[in-house]
Parts: sequence; C-alpha cells; structure tokens
Amino acid sequence: MRLIVLGAAAGGGLPQWNCAAANSASYWAGSATPVAPAATQSSLAVSVDGARWLVLNASPDLRAQIMATPALQPRTGNGHGLRNSPIAAVMLTNGDIDHVVGLLSLREGQAFDLWATAGIHDVLDQNPLFEAVNRAIVPRRIIALDQPMEVLPGLTTTLFAVPGKVPLYMEGESVDTQLMGEQTVGVEIATATARAFYIPGCATMVPALAERLRGAALVLFDGTVFHDDEMIREGVGHKTGARMGHMAMAGPDGSLAAFDALGVALRVYVHINNTNPVWNPAGAERAAVEAAGWTVAHDGMEITL
Ligand code: MLT
Ligand code: MN
Repeated sequence: MRLIVLGAAAGGGLPQWNCAAANSASYWAGSATPVAPAATQSSLAVSVDGARWLVLNASPDLRAQIMATPALQPRTGNGHGLRNSPIAAVMLTNGDIDHVVGLLSLREGQAFDLWATAGIHDVLDQNPLFEAVNRAIVPRRIIALDQPMEVLPGLTTTLFAVPGKVPLYMEGESVDTQLMGEQTVGVEIATATARAFYIPGCATMVPALAERLRGAALVLFDGTVFHDDEMIREGVGHKTGARMGHMAMAGPDGSLAAFDALGVALRVYVHINNTNPVWNPAGAERAAVEAAGWTVAHDGMEITL
C-alpha cells in the first residue's frame, strides 16, 4: 500500500490567507524564514498498484496537490486517451469545506467513484453547486458504516463513526460535538498485506475507537491543535479544539495520552491547524510529540506499508 499525504494542514492551510499569528506571519513579506514548508489542506491519496488512486477528502487545494504529485497526473503518450486521470475514486470523511470543495476541481467530465456515507452524501445533495460533478459518470456511492467495501481492486475500506459534529456551515443554535454517526467517520484502509487508519477529525478517544486502533501498523490522526485553547491563547479566535470537534494533542484527554498504551507502530499527525506550534521543527511541542513516537506530516510525505 502506498500512501501520500497530499495536504497535511487543516482548513485554511499553512499559512492561512488572513492570518498574521506566529506561524503564518513567518511567511509574509518582511518576515524571517518560514516556520516550516507551506502546507495545503487536508487530503490523503492511497494506492495498491500505483496506477489507480483513492483520494481521501477533496481539499480546496486539490489542483495544486495534483500539480505537486506525479502519481496523480494524467498519463501521456500512446495508449492513453487525451482525457485520463489516475484518480479512480474519492472518499469523504465528513462534509467540511476543507474536505469537499476540491470536488469542484474534478468537474471536467472525468469518471470516478465518489464514496461517502448516506449522511455525508445528504450534505452534498443539498448543495446544487456539486451537481457540476456529473452524477452520470461520477456515481455517488453510499458506503454503510462498518461494512468493508472494495473501492478499488485490492483496496478495501471500512468507514466507522468517530465523535464529531456536523459541518460548520450546518451548525444550528446548539451543537453536539460528540455526535457518533454518519457525519464524521474514520477509515480503515486494507490490502491483502497491510492495514492503515485515516482519522483527520475526531473529538474524543472513546473506548471502542481505542480498541479498534490497538496494535495498528499505521494511524494518521487528527492533529488540529496542540492545546485545546490554542486559538484563544493566540488571540486569533474564540473556539477551543473541542468546540470545533477536534481533540487536542496535549492534556489528559489529548491524543498523545490516548495513544500512549495503544501500541500503534506508526502514528502520524495530519489535519494540523496553522496555529499549532508543532509546525515548528525547533519547538518544544514538536520535540514532545516526537518523543512520544509521533511524526508530524508534511505535504508530499509518502509511506509504504
Ligand atoms: C474543521 O475541521 O473543524 C473544519 O474544517 C472547519 C472549517 O470548516 O473550516
Ligand atoms: Mn477541517
């Protein structure tokens, strides 16, 4: 199994267009060296044969991600049609803007399968903009929770509920950030010889999830914020990670502690917000996550299992 992190950042990317807080400020004119290579928004590509790829989450940066990833570019020359793409399937883990907007960049009459739960498809169905992605050649395929599905030859995915919430643009007066259902899912990706988990959004490590992940070879996990109150501390927002449906890395309920005894061989943080101090390779927070056995993802990071 080949996995390529197309975008390691959370919504907004690194730097974020309107942000002058520490990490983002390091990119703007007149500033010193950037804190880390710039990062695009949340997406992962997976393949067994290197020819057909599953893209998990279609970020607003998808076009740039394809430009940066030869494996996802059209094949040229004899035998290849004038219109082709190695992207054979797209799967969504929620209906958030940073995970669905890239679908609009795949609207030029190219066939692929679009996989999501019925609940996430509902969100797309309610938005007529997505009709630009022609259903006749891009079938919206429903995948039930906990039902293994071979989405590409030799590549089976199983979606499972993780605590989360509805997309920001669908929030009402009160928001349940611990919703377990079809709105926020994790993905188990399996081939004949390898198994990995992709969970870019998760509000809490509930016991059933911990048991599912125990002993896994690879987990790519929600790394949105280091401190739950990081955006408030930085003065860039009023929301905690918990309110956004993301568990922090640090703290007694954080992901560092939650994974401590799970025996997961390779732990990779993805969906990292631009405020997160782990972006800084020289920072204490990066040292702390690495000491705990984690890797901080970067755009183009490739893993072979
Ligand atoms: C999130 O991960 O919390 C969302 O992507 C936020 C957003 O919609 O910008
Ligand atoms: Mn997001």
